[in-house]
Amino acid sequence: METRIFHITEQNMDEAALAVAGEILQKGGLVAFPTETVYGLGGDALNPDSARRIYEAKGRPSDNPLIVHICRIEDMYPIVREVTPRALAIAEAFWPGPLTLILEKSDRVPYETTGGLDTVAVRMPSHPVAAELIRCGGGYIAAPSANLSGKPSPTLAKYVVQDMNGRIDAVIDGGEVGIGLESTIIDLTVEPPQILRPGYITREMLEQVLGQVDVDAAILEGGGDLVPKAPGMKYRHYAPQGDLIILSGEESKVVDYINKAVPEDVRGGHKVGIICTDETAGLFGDAVIKAVGTRKDEESIARRLYSILREFDDEQVTRIYSEDFESDGLGQAIMNRLLKAAGHRIIYV
Ligand code: TXA
Ligand code: MG
Repeated sequence: METRIFHITEQNMDEAALAVAGEILQKGGLVAFPTETVYGLGGDALNPDSARRIYEAKGRPSDNPLIVHICRIEDMYPIVREVTPRALAIAEAFWPGPLTLILEKSDRVPYETTGGLDTVAVRMPSHPVAAELIRCGGGYIAAPSANLSGKPSPTLAKYVVQDMNGRIDAVIDGGEVGIGLESTIIDLTVEPPQILRPGYITREMLEQVLGQVDVDAAILEGGGDLVPKAPGMKYRHYAPQGDLIILSGEESKVVDYINKAVPEDVRGGHKVGIICTDETAGLFGDAVIKAVGTRKDEESIARRLYSILREFDDEQVTRIYSEDFESDGLGQAIMNRLLKAAGHRIIYV
């Protein structure tokens, strides 16, 4: 299959190209597109064949449910059993935006899309290209992140092309995404509501609308017997090819540890990468050093994390050390993804 590339940005909303892409979706084809979080791999959420094609293109297990993307709040009504008052309150507070709601599904949503579950994940993205594509595609677009299963989610179209070229009908290149980590997922079918995946919309923000909100304990601990409640969170994900080890502790001890470990690894035949911050980038010896962002601005770290993991793959790095990050606010989402990429290997120094 030849994969077509469209260039569509907020500044250049090519309506003709969007109509073509929308038609591909309506006919059961697959189109990757930018959202404010990461690139998504879109297919018609109400067409079981499209869902099957998505799983095939990603190489993803079909018990891993897809998020249904909409472009108007009222479009939630036909696909869920009931829009509860708190679902509406939270949608009005955070949509369009990087938040996914889990609700009981209606019969309109095929089990192929929900991975056999009676619940459905719904999100209304704020990226204008995403919103317009959803509208042109019929209003209900299932879209997992547009990476091959097990790879970091793509934040640039070139990574989508790397993974999906020849496997899908089209890619919309809309430039670099703004947030860089997938949406926050909150399960509203339980009491109190529970965060299944941390993201840009933090627990503190959600609690202002909903009162008490719990966080799935597997999100930060994991690695042991705890099974995450979002099926997709149980897979080893976001994984770079090199083995990744997180160092936690006082900054000077972390730096010392890494600076001692690197020469030994190099002698052992490794090519070593370091994920550090602008604050520490000058403190390390000879290695592939990547400053992910500044600790003064966690958003800068979120935006770059996945592309750094991909760059280490491109440069065939075989061992990676990373500093650790805060465990609340947006830092919780950053640490959650980093821990998964590391298979939960963390050393306390
Ligand atoms: O930011 C995002 O959410 C991106 C962009 C493209 O919108 N999409 C995304 O989709 O991250 P994906 O498929 O990579 O992740 C969806 C996650 C998986 O962990 C899946 O298990 C969970 O959502 N999920 C979907 N439906 C669910 C349900 N009914 N109950 C619990 N978890 C669900
Ligand atoms: Mg994903």
